[in-house]
Amino acid sequence: MSIALKAYAKVNIHLDITGRFSDGYHSLFMVMQSVGLYDRIILEKAGKGITLLCSDKNIPLDESNTEYKAARLFFEKTGIQGGVIIETEKNIPQQAGLAGGSADAAAVLTGLNILYGAGLSEHQLREIGLQVGSDVPFCLKGGTCLVQSRGGIIAPVKPAENSFAVLVKPERGVSTAQAYADADETYLYHPDNSRMLEACETGSFEDICKYAGNVFEQVVEVPERVDIKKIMREHNCLMAQMTGSGPTVFGLFGSKDDAQAAAEKLKKICPGVFLTEPVDCGVSVE
Ligand code: C5P
Repeated sequence: MSIALKAYAKVNIHLDITGRFSDGYHSLFMVMQSVGLYDRIILEKAGKGITLLCSDKNIPLDESNTEYKAARLFFEKTGIQGGVIIETEKNIPQQAGLAGGSADAAAVLTGLNILYGAGLSEHQLREIGLQVGSDVPFCLKGGTCLVQSRGGIIAPVKPAENSFAVLVKPERGVSTAQAYADADETYLYHPDNSRMLEACETGSFEDICKYAGNVFEQVVEVPERVDIKKIMREHNCLMAQMTGSGPTVFGLFGSKDDAQAAAEKLKKICPGVFLTEPVDCGVSVE
């Protein structure tokens, strides 16, 4: 018995660090958006154990893997005596600020819940997801959401309509833990979260784009960023910003032609360019 799922990448329309918990984790204020770039995951029931297979040879297939962590926690929390073979076709670049690992973990939790008929509620899945990573709760829900605290407080926001996303992934990867450590050492200028909250409440996508910010842009150096944003602006983007702790820079566009033209030009700066659209879920079952 098996199930196939799509695990969607996310971008941070907004990301502010608002504080630090006693365990070193940071409290966040974010607006997150799922996009159509996805990993494809097939889960196959097995008698015992967790086996990982992946199309990308750079992904570690050990206990540090987010899919492994998600599956282990699923069996631990439900008490189900079972196993799974997890086969992943990797399309979302890693260490990119696109939550590839978190999306895969969310798909594993969603899929195992169905495959084993465990009946875990959305809340229970979210609790387990948060133990795997801060972005997993959002990836379980997906769409357009306001996300707070460690990533576990989630409120849906009016979806981004009729827009197109261009993602540009410079070659190097960024360590999220290092980016947070660097942020701790920096005097950060913060975006206007009250206005962003108001924009989320009124559902004005124009205002969401207007007040968007990402504090990691102040601490993570991405040499190509200025040129990427310039090209996006020349093609009438609604917003252009780094996602997560980078290095991916994304633009949202109101017109597909503009997005396509920008993507063509951007390919000359970076090989990793993806033209996609916002989607309304984090995980879907095929
Ligand atoms: O949860 P995730 O796997 O994305 O976190 C990677 C690292 O980023 C954590 O080990 C931690 O150092 C840092 N982090 C943090 N505060 C958060 C999320 C992540 O300090 N809210």
